[in-house]
Amino acid sequence: MQFRTLGKTGYRVSEIGFGAWGIGGSMWQGSDDDTSLAALSAALDVRLDFIDTALAYGDGHSEKLVARALRARPGRVVVATKIPPKNYQWPARRGVPLRKVFPASYVRRCAERSVRNLERPIDLLQFHVWVDEWLLDADWPEVERTMQALIVDGTVRAWGISINDHEPGSALQAVSRCDLIASVQVIYNVFDRSPERQLFPLCRERNVGVIARVPLDEGGLTGKIGPDTRFPRGDWRDEYFRGKRRAEVQARVRRLEPVLLKEATSLVEGALRFCLSDPAVSTVIPGMRTPEHARANCAVSDGRVLSGELLAALKEHQWERNFYE
Ligand SMILES: NC(=O)c1ccc[n+]([C@@H]2O[C@H](COP(=O)([O-])OP(=O)(O)OC[C@H]3O[C@@H](n4cnc5c(N)ncnc54)[C@H](OP(=O)(O)O)[C@@H]3O)[C@@H](O)[C@H]2O)c1
Repeated sequence: MQFRTLGKTGYRVSEIGFGAWGIGGSMWQGSDDDTSLAALSAALDVRLDFIDTALAYGDGHSEKLVARALRARPGRVVVATKIPPKNYQWPARRGVPLRKVFPASYVRRCAERSVRNLERPIDLLQFHVWVDEWLLDADWPEVERTMQALIVDGTVRAWGISINDHEPGSALQAVSRCDLIASVQVIYNVFDRSPERQLFPLCRERNVGVIARVPLDEGGLTGKIGPDTRFPRGDWRDEYFRGKRRAEVQARVRRLEPVLLKEATSLVEGALRFCLSDPAVSTVIPGMRTPEHARANCAVSDGRVLSGELLAALKEHQWERNFYE
């Protein structure tokens, strides 16, 4: 496992981090706690030391599993979690005032709940949605004072933003103007390279860490999705990959695969290596729910990145769209 610095936090974190949405047991179906704990354990065994969870993942269940996995483990692991929007609307919509989404008292309450679930102070607390207009909202100064106070009283060590899906431009003001924001989390994968345009250069300039999320396009970039794919009952991906989307994903991936396999032994390896090839990226957080996936994903961090030639060739396979809508 290789390590990089997570922006202004100064944390050295593993290049592969653990995406803990899927183990929350609500929107993703088909996981069980014993296997999820085994996945966490397998990742920690190979020196993964960054975990991304959220209060919203199974209403605290993912956080509690992370706490269980870490209880028996000495050694430092950086745990990032998130404050859900109070109005429970993803993504954040422009024109909705801050007091409806992240009022200061609610920010504090959520932080305290996460501390109880995680059984430890929060290394990195992220706003789970964001719009830059909140920086000009009359309530922002009070939220900022609360963020400071939570650092001073030891509840939170650093702050970040998890950027709205496929909207990397929606947090540029926060990155450039808000000193308290130490990292951003953003969708970045072979299909959606939009953060390379403005967000990544700005993050490098401002020393803001980048957590690359959804590196496998919710499973699309594993090669497992096709017209006949069936998801467990109640799984949110049934909607995400609805209608003709499964066939479209498969056709795209079939064209992409031989290109990626020039420098990787599997699609997953190539997709993760792609994310690690941009120096702005601090850590990549694939969702992993089994020990096998955890071991395979962590093995990708071996110091090798894709060649400039391949990165250029992959530009033809960009596919910017928003399946979450
Ligand atoms: N708004 C936000 O803040 C937000 C939104 C989305 C995600 N996130 C964070 O980003 C993390 C990653 O995103 P994600 O989990 O949604 O999607 P992802 O990492 O793009 O894809 C997860 C999918 O990849 C599969 N997979 C993982 N490793 C594999 C391997 N080695 N071989 C084959 N298949 C593999 C999983 O299979 P199985 O189905 O078999 O498990 C799952 O279907 C989340 O866990 C969460 O921490 C944050």
